[in-house]
Amino acid sequence: MHKVIFDTDPGIDDAMALLFLHHHPDIDLIGITTVFGNASVETTTRNALFLKREWEIAAPVAMGDGKAFNPMRNPVDWPVMIHGRDGLGNIDVPETIDLPVDPLPAHRFIIDTVRKNPGEVTLIAVGRMSNLAFALKEAPEIATLVKQVIIMGGAFDVPGNITPAAEANIHGDPEAADVVMTAPWKVTVVGLDVTMKTVMTRTLLDAIVEKGGARAKLLSDISQLYIDFYGRHVKDGMVVHDSCACAYLVAPELFTTRSGVIRVVSGGIADGQTIQKPDGRAFPPGNWDDFPSQHACTGIDADAVLDLIARTL
Ligand code: BDR
Ligand code: CA
Repeated sequence: MHKVIFDTDPGIDDAMALLFLHHHPDIDLIGITTVFGNASVETTTRNALFLKREWEIAAPVAMGDGKAFNPMRNPVDWPVMIHGRDGLGNIDVPETIDLPVDPLPAHRFIIDTVRKNPGEVTLIAVGRMSNLAFALKEAPEIATLVKQVIIMGGAFDVPGNITPAAEANIHGDPEAADVVMTAPWKVTVVGLDVTMKTVMTRTLLDAIVEKGGARAKLLSDISQLYIDFYGRHVKDGMVVHDSCACAYLVAPELFTTRSGVIRVVSGGIADGQTIQKPDGRAFPPGNWDDFPSQHACTGIDADAVLDLIARTL
């Protein structure tokens, strides 16, 4: 059984990923931590509580503090065209949800939970990396206690989606992402190289609703705005970015990876770009010699991943 803390900014594709984690029989979802990104942290936290209530999820929700790791990067605007004014596709989520938020802030929840479960916790982070970076700053030893970290973010051999160089989750807090990528824990990055190939058609989503009942119906209602946006601008269907990261946990054999140190650019025209120095390539000394080799996904069996997601939902 995989013990998972899900660090998320719900967010429409985040909602699908959350339902996947909740339903998968080999996953024990032990915490949900919220971060800004698709909306403010107040809104993403409200949305996490809403989904927890609607889908009867037991895991506690701990709220991030809404700040980027670099205090100069105050988050100010949200992708309302993609995720809606409410972050969940303009379905009129109630303003408040009558469920408690965990008393610990997100980064502290991560630290405490990891310390209580040494070697057992997988962190799946599908928003800005701020909470993970703050956790590492306060308690660097958690890097040796976490089982693995799986990230949705970055773009290595393909263009970004928020700038030509950068993917949105990394671009929103690049300094945090660099801290996370260079820490001595095992990181696998599931980025645009593979997620952009993983597109759920309306037909498949409709089939999921037919078998999945009320929970799947809510997911479908939430997803329509997102599908319309992607249909107009990118791909005809739902790009299931965040669910790909969750699928990697239970079916890594459906992905190919490349290993090497990963760094994140901060500043300039490539702000937020992810760069990997492939293992085995020689460079003069001083080129990121002191950082651990991490794993970037470069290939995916998209049909099999979509099938896994559909069956789980
Ligand atoms: C990522 O950005 C967010 O909009 C999505 O939820 C996903 O995590 C894709 O770039
Ligand atoms: Ca997300």
